[in-house]
Amino acid sequence: MTATAHSPAPVLCGLGTWLPPHVVTNEDLSRELDTSDEWIRSRTGIGRRHVVQPGEATSDLAVEAGRRALKSAGLDTVDMVIVATTTPDRQCPATAPLVASRLGLGTVPAFDVGAVCTGFLYALATAAGFLAAGTARTVLVVGADTYSTILDPADRSARAIFGDGAGAVVVRAGRADEPGAFGPVELASDGSGCDLIMVPSGGSRDPFRAATAQQADPFFRMQGKKVFRSAVERMAQSSLTVAERFGWSVDDIDLLVAHQANIRIMHGVADSVGLPRSRCHVHLDRVGNTAAASIPLALADAVESGRLTPGARVLTTAFGGGLTWGAAALRWPDISPA
Ligand code: UT7
Repeated sequence: MTATAHSPAPVLCGLGTWLPPHVVTNEDLSRELDTSDEWIRSRTGIGRRHVVQPGEATSDLAVEAGRRALKSAGLDTVDMVIVATTTPDRQCPATAPLVASRLGLGTVPAFDVGAVCTGFLYALATAAGFLAAGTARTVLVVGADTYSTILDPADRSARAIFGDGAGAVVVRAGRADEPGAFGPVELASDGSGCDLIMVPSGGSRDPFRAATAQQADPFFRMQGKKVFRSAVERMAQSSLTVAERFGWSVDDIDLLVAHQANIRIMHGVADSVGLPRSRCHVHLDRVGNTAAASIPLALADAVESGRLTPGARVLTTAFGGGLTWGAAALRWPDISPA
């Protein structure tokens, strides 16, 4: 059956964000590590990032963003909660049930999705599947991460780029011709690159045991250069696939909201796709790479800065550990981020 304008489709209808109040500037980092504002800005485009303080966890950020997304959607409740995160409050249980409960959503189904920096797009696609199946009419999708809690304090490369934050959207069952309709979301993975982004210890491959605790490496590790090349290629590929699926030419794309990993990666994607760099929204200068939170945070910033207006054709794309990547496109709905 061919999809028509009246076909059922998932529709984005609410957006909320939250950043922990504590800010770490490049100057702050350079007092602690062998780095400089000049290196970080020129190699990444980042000027500062928000970082949780002791006692603040991923669920705290997710709850605040979720509450705001519900308000933005004008809803008190939803049928399901999905949290995309690589930094859950604890390895067990998932973070989503706690988020649902703290939002007062009762006993709705709630679970986490782990696709690292592509997590938000994977969660969005998962929500779309539940809406299509009729299992849910509304889903709260949260991207929340606190990478500062898994970074090696001595890793100047990772500490320069990552920041903490949360962004959430509400999606509902609707029609393909409505503003906010998205999907199908383009998703892909390549597990042969799983070593490029990882936390080596603490999982079943290298569990913590008292006897080996000294050798364990519990910190996030990334082979930045290899990831960089793959990220540009894969995000550009996914973006073109999604644009084509929507019947958009590159010229039709009003705004590219790419995962905010590094400004050079984002510009590389724009160049590969053939889009002027000016149509690439940049938020990472103020928040860094917030992993699963990056796309909803950047979307909200684009709306607040007047760059994303109702009806605009927006394309989002992400790349992350796994390796995983993907893209989604939509005409922006008339919503106010909260
Ligand atoms: O979000 C999911 C996916 N993640 C990404 O997409 C991130 C992709 N990778 C990157 O953004 C970049 O690779 C980084 C920003 C992580 C690193 O930038 P780079 O230009 O690839 O630098 P590099 O790792 O090749 O390092 C070049 C030099 C090295 O020094 P030597 O060995 O040439 O002496 C690093 O030690 O830059 C050094 N370096 C730094 N110097 C000052 C690395 N980090 C820093 C720093 N300050 N913060």
